[in-house]
Amino acid sequence: MANLLDSLLLLLTFFSTLCLAHSPNLREIYRFPNATWVENIAVRPNGNLLVADLSTAELWEIDPSTPGSAHLVYHFDGAEDADGITELSPDIYAVIATNSVWTIDLTSDETAPKATLIAKLPAGALNGIAALDEGNAVALTDSSLGVIWYLNIRTGAYEVIHQDETMAANTDMGLLLGVNGLKVVNDYMYYTDSPKQIFCRVRIDTHTGRALGPYEVISRNTLGDDFVIGPHGVAYLAGLVGNVVLKVYPNGDHEVIAGSANSTDLMTATSTAFGRTYKDRNVLYITTGGESRLPGNDTSIRGGKIMALTVEF
Ligand SMILES: *[C@@H]1O[C@H](CO)[C@@H](O)[C@H](O)[C@H]1NC(C)=O
Ligand SMILES: *[C@@H]1O[C@H](CO)[C@@H](O)[C@H](O)[C@H]1NC(C)=O
Ligand SMILES: *[C@@H]1O[C@H](CO)[C@@H](O)[C@H](O)[C@H]1NC(C)=O
Repeated sequence: MANLLDSLLLLLTFFSTLCLAHSPNLREIYRFPNATWVENIAVRPNGNLLVADLSTAELWEIDPSTPGSAHLVYHFDGAEDADGITELSPDIYAVIATNSVWTIDLTSDETAPKATLIAKLPAGALNGIAALDEGNAVALTDSSLGVIWYLNIRTGAYEVIHQDETMAANTDMGLLLGVNGLKVVNDYMYYTDSPKQIFCRVRIDTHTGRALGPYEVISRNTLGDDFVIGPHGVAYLAGLVGNVVLKVYPNGDHEVIAGSANSTDLMTATSTAFGRTYKDRNVLYITTGGESRLPGNDTSIRGGKIMALTVEF
């Protein structure tokens, strides 16, 4: 009996390894140079991918239908990093660059985007971002203070609007890190706390961003960075140093849908977004930080990339 169980287990392990190793629906779109950490993604209305290169404080654009090429959209002079991106209105984005928030307007001239500094916040480490108030404001995760800020895009006024145990920072992952990824969908704010490995939500007033309900933990043992909420309220979490993408159902059930601990395919996955054209609505684009557990400047370490995963809803 024990032998039979052992053999079954071995067989199961064998097949699951085989499936993961294959990942036939996963392909590379673009790889950045060594020692670059790609942190966040937004998809333009025309279907092109806009990604933030943390290491170089730059915004890059990639047409996913022509893998292997990318072009620089904007360099944030004086910034040390570029982090979260969110769309405020069609083709106008808010982007974090070292605790400053900028708007990048691609509506008039794509070759010379209009960049406007909105505010520099007295924050610890701004990281994730989501639009509030129909794009007139944003919510921002502060990963080292473990709080969420509100910023009014029109006036530049800011204040802390959330501070909770589910957002708190610790050094379990080697750097002071807490609340990380952020999305607002309908009247809920969703967020991850990476070292606590939790995925959470809170009902909010979508104008002020303030809580209208309790802070709820949707799932535990789900290490995640940034994420997207897809059809049926299912979340697709970039699994950071878990090297995977996790699918989390609204009831908290979760499963790995691509990558694996020992594979470099999705090593340090940092964010996800779905395509916006009729051809790629079911394609999940995934950014990665490259083959290092933390952002760094070691040029012998392979850099971050954009991967595409075809998913079934
Ligand atoms: C992954 O790597 C770790 C550490 O090297 C090792 O202990 C583990 O057995 C590996 N897992 C698989 C599935 O190969
Ligand atoms: C590379 O990173 C190390 C450790 O973070 C730092 O001490 C060093 O100054 C950096 N070198 C360059 C060239 O930025
Ligand atoms: C990039 O990293 C890889 C893997 O370590 C290495 O083989 C390659 O030489 C590096 N490339 C450069 C330009 O340093």
